[in-house]
Amino acid sequence: MRTFLTAACAALLLGAAPAVLAAAQPGAAPAVAPILTTPEARDVMTYARPEIARVTHVDLDLEVDFQEQILRGTATLSVLAQPGAKEIILDTDSLAVTRVTDDQGRALAWSLGAAEPEKGAPLTVQLNGAQRIVVHYAARPGASALQWLPPQMTAGKQKPFLFSQGQAILNRSWIPTQDSPGIRQTWTARLVVPEGLMAVMSADRLTPEGEPAGAGRRAFRFAMDKPVPPYLIALAVGDLAFRPLGPRTGVYAEPSMLDRAAYELADTEKMVEVAEALYGPYRWGRYDVLVLPPAFPYGGMENPTLTFLTPTFITGDRSNVNLVAHELAHSWSGNLVTNATWPDGWLNEGFTSYFENRIMEGMYGRARAVLEADLDWDILMREIELAGGMEAPTTRLRGDDGEESGQIDYIKGSLFLRTLETILGRERWDAYLTSYFNRHAFQPQTTAGFLADLRAHEIKGDKALEAKLQLDAWAYGTGLPDNAVRLRSEALAAVDAQTRAFVAGGKAAALKTADWSTQEWLRFIGNLPRQMAADRLAELDAAFNLSRSPNAYVRSAWLELAIANRWEPAVPALEAFLHSVGRTLFLRPLYRELVAQGNWGRAIAERAYRTARGTYHASTAAAIDALLNK
Ligand code: BES
Ligand code: ZN
Repeated sequence: MRTFLTAACAALLLGAAPAVLAAAQPGAAPAVAPILTTPEARDVMTYARPEIARVTHVDLDLEVDFQEQILRGTATLSVLAQPGAKEIILDTDSLAVTRVTDDQGRALAWSLGAAEPEKGAPLTVQLNGAQRIVVHYAARPGASALQWLPPQMTAGKQKPFLFSQGQAILNRSWIPTQDSPGIRQTWTARLVVPEGLMAVMSADRLTPEGEPAGAGRRAFRFAMDKPVPPYLIALAVGDLAFRPLGPRTGVYAEPSMLDRAAYELADTEKMVEVAEALYGPYRWGRYDVLVLPPAFPYGGMENPTLTFLTPTFITGDRSNVNLVAHELAHSWSGNLVTNATWPDGWLNEGFTSYFENRIMEGMYGRARAVLEADLDWDILMREIELAGGMEAPTTRLRGDDGEESGQIDYIKGSLFLRTLETILGRERWDAYLTSYFNRHAFQPQTTAGFLADLRAHEIKGDKALEAKLQLDAWAYGTGLPDNAVRLRSEALAAVDAQTRAFVAGGKAAALKTADWSTQEWLRFIGNLPRQMAADRLAELDAAFNLSRSPNAYVRSAWLELAIANRWEPAVPALEAFLHSVGRTLFLRPLYRELVAQGNWGRAIAERAYRTARGTYHASTAAAIDALLNK
């Protein structure tokens, strides 16, 4: 297999991607993963021309300088080029490149092109026959993928923290490589960090304790031997401790967070087993999770072997572990079979949300899965409304270049797969999906490619079945096809009955909320009328302390309602929240609602943002900037 792959390299470079090259055997990964050259697989967000010269391996050697907020060192790239290719083009964003050499240290000519917003600047290197090139560079303090946290923004308050967030095209701000999800690369890294801090990355962790690297420094080494899209290269450095959760699972967190994190994550090992029983072996070795400080801009990020998680999922009752199911599911949908370009992002997020819900069903039963699906339906309806209704172009799964689709990729995508499951039957559908992951393992995929695969392996020209499925309407149409399968939760129906009683004038104290999880609270708050009398808001807050809820999901949903009512008593709690949490999913609705409330809200938003912006990740700040500048 290996020798065949080497011989096939030129073919791969040209885009020939015969299915035989995929790792059909679970466990095996191709040394060089194919790229796609069909028109719909073209990534406009990269400068790379992989059909001429492509990166196959990245070796990083970087020093982490907390004083200057700089990463400094080298990236050694293995290059596979067409015979006669003169140059290779890499993606960079605000990197300070000092020189480029071959692996013998001979200087190579290079030039940085003009920078575009978001996309950054192309770095063109004259190969001069080199098969490995060494880029000497530094990532600047403002690097968009990196967030440098001062000690006050950590749980321990003693030591600084650094993490990266690569998706979608941020990693070019600290790694000069071909930053496209369709150009997979293996990688290795050595990070040198100040003594007393631990470095972790999304790869095999070769030196868990680190090794001496000169006065006051330690080095940590990592290796990812499976080709991954570069957005999945991730690092974190901080005062971290580790605790095993099972034979191949464990949690990293700041020491003072470890107990709470481990309690919340107790089911992780079993989740991996449930996922494997659904769609085949977990192919990445270990599955560990890292609990970050609250500035982390997402709920979670599916970095291979090491999911990154917000600490806000920890509510003491394990009611948000669907987040873990989600990031774990990406180990198949996203990390194994990857959207070739970002407009095909629903192939990552929609498949994953479907898979997430199947894991939840396998772990906790049908009722729990239905409950989450029912809540998601509400969120989807709100998103479609926000997008401009059922005809709005941004409600399409296959997106346009540069457009943002928010939760539509997730929920409409997962509804699509649930509809396929329902029509084909679960057994047949599950067998198909397992085979799909295997057929396309370690390869990029497009919407067209998925539909072609489904037609080739399941529909096989059956016209009646084709008509029933409405594949093109799902993949390319706006709104929701009429075969969408909606699930309704009895537990949520019971919440709705209580909501009605309260809205009809019932007392807050009469609500039976003792066993409500995050999801029930969200349903209740979400279904309260958007306009409420101040005394009713006060009554609820007094009964349940919602403004100060330690559950960030509940608290942010409540604050959103309070803002919609310009309810002053919640403003201090709102300001505290905007200053302590960096998760975009919570922040965006709050700022959006503030802006919707005219001068009253805008004044609060702008005052808070002046001081809070500096504590947000660059991607969060960009999202809030866009809201406030509207
Ligand atoms: N891959 C995403 C996070 C992401 C999305 C990063 C877009 C950059 C751009 C991750 O898997 C995710 O979807 N997280 C969700 C989890 C939720 C759906 C359970 C989140 O962060 O809330
Ligand atoms: Zn996801």
